[in-house]
Amino acid sequence: MKFFVDTADVAAIRELNDLGMVDGVTTNPSLILKSGRNILEVTKEICDMVSGPVSAEVVASEAKEMIAEGLHLAQIAPNIAVKVPLTWDGLTACKALASEGHKVNVTLCFSPAQALLAAKAGASFISPFIGRLDDIHLDGLDLIEDIRVIYDNYDYRTEILAASIRSVNHVIDCAKIGADVVTAPPAIIKAMANHVLTDKGLEQFNSDWAKTGQKIL
Ligand code: E4P
Repeated sequence: MKFFVDTADVAAIRELNDLGMVDGVTTNPSLILKSGRNILEVTKEICDMVSGPVSAEVVASEAKEMIAEGLHLAQIAPNIAVKVPLTWDGLTACKALASEGHKVNVTLCFSPAQALLAAKAGASFISPFIGRLDDIHLDGLDLIEDIRVIYDNYDYRTEILAASIRSVNHVIDCAKIGADVVTAPPAIIKAMANHVLTDKGLEQFNSDWAKTGQKIL
């Protein structure tokens, strides 16, 4: 499974990237706001650091403007994936940008029907938002399962990029279902290393080691 980091925080991306944990990055207007940085500058910095796809999102609502914004964002670096919303205009922009050879990530996907349209429009990635479905008491993981079945039935190459990840369990459940990619905040990727029995075991080993009176170095 590929790990994308869902942030525009350069320091946080660098820490994970140095450990080989980063296969790509996703950003959105809210994450750019949170970073306090200029979108073009911060995206360039991220693209220079990470070799995989870096999603940068358009903000226009009409296809023509989305395409113009997408082409501008795509000039930042060869590893840009232009992110467009799952609206009819977004699908139109997806088709146009993909036809010109650009990677497109279709975002804000909340139904299998939307995901099917994105695949037909040539999206490289579809971003179903699990957490936001859970927030309204629907099951985000059901959506990932449905898209996996549909894409496999017809051998669509569009990668399922599970987004709006809120927990370690979300990551593991997506991996079990077979999502191609998960994009998670840095804190969730780091939390995957935690286990209460690891902490307890380490405490015991440290205590017993102290009693031996030995040193390794
Ligand atoms: C994905 O590309 C989005 O940026 C992100 O996963 C949205 O997550 P949120 O619902 O926690 O804002």
